[in-house]
Amino acid sequence: MDLDDSEQDPEIKEYSSVCVGREDDIKKSERMTAVVHDREVVIFYHKGEYHAMDIRCYHSGGPLHLGEIEDFDGRPCIVCPWHKYKITLATGEGLYQSINPKDPSAKPEWCSKGIKQRIHKVTVDNGNIYVTLSKEPFKCDSDFYATGDFKVIKSSS
Ligand code: FES
Repeated sequence: MDLDDSEQDPEIKEYSSVCVGREDDIKKSERMTAVVHDREVVIFYHKGEYHAMDIRCYHSGGPLHLGEIEDFDGRPCIVCPWHKYKITLATGEGLYQSINPKDPSAKPEWCSKGIKQRIHKVTVDNGNIYVTLSKEPFKCDSDFYATGDFKVIKSSS
């Protein structure tokens, strides 16, 4: 990271990595929350991998850091504690089960709604965990609760 650039250009600063904690700590707790450039995120440590995403669920703003992690269709997901929506840790996709109404005997199949929760990048350097906010230009449903009027930063409430 070039500090001079980040001081001059707010957009570069917004996408610079931020240290959110120690690797030793998240390996014990398996999750932590952080505010990265005014955006609240949750970081999970699950089966040896780190995942960071917007902390408020894309559906209605539920607190994902309080959800359980379960596998669906072989994909680790955070299950929102409010209405049980399933969100893949790796990609932020919303998963749902569908059944063909013309074939009621068919087994329900897992399907994806597409990327609904914004995923951020996690890196580890010298025992420290860093989060870099997503620069993906698409509009993600979770942006609604991460920005603007509906943003809730726990540390300020
Ligand atoms: Fe997360 Fe409804 S707020 S499932």
